Amino acid sequence: MDDPDESTDGTDRVAALLEALTRAEKLRLVRGRDDPAGTATGYLPGVERLDVPAYRLVDGPLGVRAEGERATAFPASIAVAATFDPDLARAKGAAMAREARALGQDCLLAPGTNLIRVPHCGRNFEYYAEEPTLASRTVAAAVAGIQSADVVATVKHYVANNQEADRVRVSAEVDERTLRELYLRPFRAAVDAGVGSVMTAYNRVNGTYMSDHERLVGEVLKGEWGFDGYVVSDWYGTESAVGAATAGLDLEMPGVSPEGVDEDDAWDPGDLDGEAADVFAGLPDATKAGLFGDPLREAIETGAVPPERLDDMVRRVLGQMGRIGLLDGEGDGRDRRDEGALDAPEHRDLAERIAARGTVLLENDGVLPLSADADVAVIGPNVDEAKLGGGGSSETTPFQSTSPAAGVTARADGEVTVARGVPRVPELSLFDVLPFVGDDEGDEDGGDDGDRGDESGPEPSLDGAAAAAREADVAVVFVRDRTTEAKDRDDLRLPGEQDALVEAVAAANDRTVVVVYSGGPVELPWREDVAAILEAWYPGQADGDAVASVLYGDRDPSGRLPVTFAPEDRYPTADERRYPGVDGRARYAEGLFVGYRHFDAAGVAPTYPFGHGLSYAAFAYRDAEVVDGRTVRATVENVSERAGREVVQAYVRPPESPAVERPPRELAGFATVDLDAGERRTVDVDLDERALGRYDPDEGWTVDPGTYAVELGRSSRDQRLAVEVDVGD
Ligand code: GLC
Repeated sequence: MDDPDESTDGTDRVAALLEALTRAEKLRLVRGRDDPAGTATGYLPGVERLDVPAYRLVDGPLGVRAEGERATAFPASIAVAATFDPDLARAKGAAMAREARALGQDCLLAPGTNLIRVPHCGRNFEYYAEEPTLASRTVAAAVAGIQSADVVATVKHYVANNQEADRVRVSAEVDERTLRELYLRPFRAAVDAGVGSVMTAYNRVNGTYMSDHERLVGEVLKGEWGFDGYVVSDWYGTESAVGAATAGLDLEMPGVSPEGVDEDDAWDPGDLDGEAADVFAGLPDATKAGLFGDPLREAIETGAVPPERLDDMVRRVLGQMGRIGLLDGEGDGRDRRDEGALDAPEHRDLAERIAARGTVLLENDGVLPLSADADVAVIGPNVDEAKLGGGGSSETTPFQSTSPAAGVTARADGEVTVARGVPRVPELSLFDVLPFVGDDEGDEDGGDDGDRGDESGPEPSLDGAAAAAREADVAVVFVRDRTTEAKDRDDLRLPGEQDALVEAVAAANDRTVVVVYSGGPVELPWREDVAAILEAWYPGQADGDAVASVLYGDRDPSGRLPVTFAPEDRYPTADERRYPGVDGRARYAEGLFVGYRHFDAAGVAPTYPFGHGLSYAAFAYRDAEVVDGRTVRATVENVSERAGREVVQAYVRPPESPAVERPPRELAGFATVDLDAGERRTVDVDLDERALGRYDPDEGWTVDPGTYAVELGRSSRDQRLAVEVDVGD
């Protein structure tokens, strides 16, 4: 037997460890424990006898959430997707991973990549898009970025976790073709990008809990796709010991119940009411823990689970530890920290760049960009605090942040007045509801991480806001929604009295600009009454600086919508049987027709289509051609007087086929290009390998013969040129 202490290449080392580990030691590697350092979200204690160090897992997709620690608060995932630039997803992933390592962590519980099927979903901000091609390219880049810094990425939540309502029980009823062409695709892209870990969702798919789903976990993910990392449960999301181990779950997290939660009584909601009660209802049952402890040991002893399965689980976990160097005998993550990465200037710059690049200009009558000497009224209930993110496990506490008011004040030469107008929109934090969170959780003093909001000062009033607007050259109103994990939004309206505020300001100044902070689609009833609208999503710590750089034209607004904006009742999920579901079953009866696919097929014009985004520049498209079956090319010219960035989008229209229903068009590829005034450039757009295909449950992926149109343009509804690709028999 090889000496397991010899440091050899990963595979040999893992094989030698498997030989040397006792069964009790192997069981220590497949079930979480509390982190003695108190910072990790999930923790494996390791096996000291064989020099296997501890392994720490930490949230989340917007920045590192190590208990009691600060880290860079990057823009939300939906903002990253809105850049249509996977290189930025890669850079954000690498920066977060460097900060995770600086905090002694080994695995990042990110990226999340569930498709945005339901506009109300409380976690849309943590995901990328309604569109699988955009989500796939973005998630693959994020995985590559995270893992480039020797941190294991965790793609989540596998699969069809597209709502928070009833998330720990609901069954997503999805047909195979829709699963394959939409919901599974971004996870397949993450696996093809080498992701080290996949987290199963709380929900069921077609009646089976994902942690127990032998077909989707064992047969598809591991068998068909060849995934060789480990499958980890969501927290308290393991349904059964034997079912999960047999299906292919490899690691149970957190593995233990929190202090004070007894085995026989789930959390007591106590006197929670309203929103807090809704959030509480979305929490998992914390007594469901330790299944991979004694229950798994007994299952192996009785033969219900073969010992080889335990070896496979351990092999997969150790394989990822080895891949990031934890089996090289140099101690654990806390021994390998590089504190210099925390709050690094290049991370601050990157956070600001992504936030600016992801900002989408929805409307502009010419009022933007602002001139520096304009007198500006900055109006909004929360203009004194950056919009860091949504509620839940993705919450991040930055070292510093810039509020909208601070950002505009720093950028403007003219006079800046500030008025709140209406009462503050309170943040929704999951940690205000979690019953076992002690008093010392989170940041007691609201932190000196910049502007956390100040209740002092004059009572807000609409009249006061209107007066400030009237006195200024331009009024900029900042509005926001509020979304959180564990709860969906009740509607798509802005909370509080923000709509009234916008109307009052627009009535007082016809040069009114609205900046919207939202985690997904929102209704903008006043959109025809204002001069310009920017969608800034959740920009994170760089909020004020990033938004000001776009408002004043230092950066061209190059964001494009990764989701369709439409009236609430026009979405295909506006049917309770589809969302939130009836009797615990959400029927995905719309099938492939999610987002723009639905609006195109139904011939319904949305408020703002997928891919929409104005620029301060203007672009002409010429000379489109097919380079080969996978690449199309066009010449794009900036015909304006100022520099700009264009996002060239390619959509495929399949040949008419009465036999098989297909969406009218589907995004097949995209490319961003920076152009100076008057500059023209040839742009190549690589089409996704599945762009022309469809999934046939019997045949698998199929490309029907015929002529496919490839449309090039600025959005799903603004096609400029088209070329044809012929596919023979
Ligand atoms: C949460 C989330 C998951 C997160 C995990 C650890 O319930 O669903 O995204 O990574 O638990 O906090």
